[in-house]
Amino acid sequence: MKKNAMAIEGGKKAVSDQVKKALKPWPPVYPETAKRLQAIYLSRQWSFNGPCEQEFSRKFSAYCGAKHSIFMANGTVTLESALHALGVKAGDEVIVPGNTWLATAMAAVYLGAIPVFVDVEPDTLCLDPKKVRQAITKKTKAIIPVHLFGSMADMDRLMAISKEYGIPVIEDCAHAQGGVWNGKVLGSIGQVGSFSFQQSKTLSSGEGGICITNDDDLAEKLFRIKHIGYSSGQKQGQAATGPEEGLVCHNYRGLEFGAAILTDALKHLRAQTVLRDSNARYFAGLIRDVPGIKVQTRGRKADVQSYYNFVLLLQPAKLKAGVTIKDVQTALNAEGMSWGIGGYGPVYKHLLWSVPKKGYRIHSNEVVEDTSTNRILNIPHAWLLTNKSMMKAMADGVRKVMNAYGK
Ligand SMILES: Cc1ncc(COP(=O)(O)O)c(C=O)c1O
Repeated sequence: MKKNAMAIEGGKKAVSDQVKKALKPWPPVYPETAKRLQAIYLSRQWSFNGPCEQEFSRKFSAYCGAKHSIFMANGTVTLESALHALGVKAGDEVIVPGNTWLATAMAAVYLGAIPVFVDVEPDTLCLDPKKVRQAITKKTKAIIPVHLFGSMADMDRLMAISKEYGIPVIEDCAHAQGGVWNGKVLGSIGQVGSFSFQQSKTLSSGEGGICITNDDDLAEKLFRIKHIGYSSGQKQGQAATGPEEGLVCHNYRGLEFGAAILTDALKHLRAQTVLRDSNARYFAGLIRDVPGIKVQTRGRKADVQSYYNFVLLLQPAKLKAGVTIKDVQTALNAEGMSWGIGGYGPVYKHLLWSVPKKGYRIHSNEVVEDTSTNRILNIPHAWLLTNKSMMKAMADGVRKVMNAYGK
């Protein structure tokens, strides 16, 4: 057998079972949280802006450097509520990237607004400011950049466009809890930051979401929208004032259990983010010269990037004839890793996308179409929450496979 043969050819796995012991299941569980959850259960206060929701909201605001946090049921209703609070109505247009989870676009659809799909940059895979500018019409009422996989949309250029046209920005930070752009925590740069705490996220309570904002008026509206019209100071059944006329409110409340899990998890977020970031940089450095792939570019002004996935972009022109993404994935995973294929897009081609043609617009989609389905390989963040030996072993595996398949 060839020296350094790939594992699928019978060679030794690059990521040994010994090295893999550093990989822990996600999300982590803490004994002190288990105790706390039992106490909440026994207290019978499970919802309605209870002490855990208030504590988490306060601590998350402090963490992000934002004035207000409004805790909700998930990171889909946070996006919808943000658009709603900003006054987006039926027929308005909302700019979103074409390579995101359905929720980013559906938030507009829920309000009768039109998602306008705009292309992304070929390196960061985040909304392309140049194309955003071209896509703006008189009807554009919001822009939602997504910090995809933890990389970062160019917030300097997007906020400059926002200011020039008077169009608010909602940052979709579902993939980027704790990432820092040029000294500012993501989510605190646009008018509203929206977060998801769904099971796989880097800060997780199974389900959950939050909006952050520095705007008092938006905060008040967001709270009323998610709490069937009550403002934050009001007790259930004792509303002294109601929402403004026309502000149709929902029950999008989260539970005390989730808020408690998140408060405890938040204590670990900074250290976990820094570790993932440092390992990701080391890994990226080790595979810089490997043929046939490029690493998704970090946020251009990332101080700390909160990796949700580590992404390899295949370079089709630099692959041997006939090699498919599936071949590469199979060979990488035989080396002891778990790479997935695909990058959230194009949204308008997703099996679950049921919006009729007149309900959305595609402004530009070349990069999204080119990259989303057959060029992206991604590995979950838990792999980065390990150590340098793991990064070295993963890099050895990637190098071995791409030396065989790349040219
Ligand atoms: C980019 C993005 N935005 C929004 C959401 C919606 O979050 P949730 O699943 O909490 O509703 C997700 C989902 O996971 C997502 O990946």
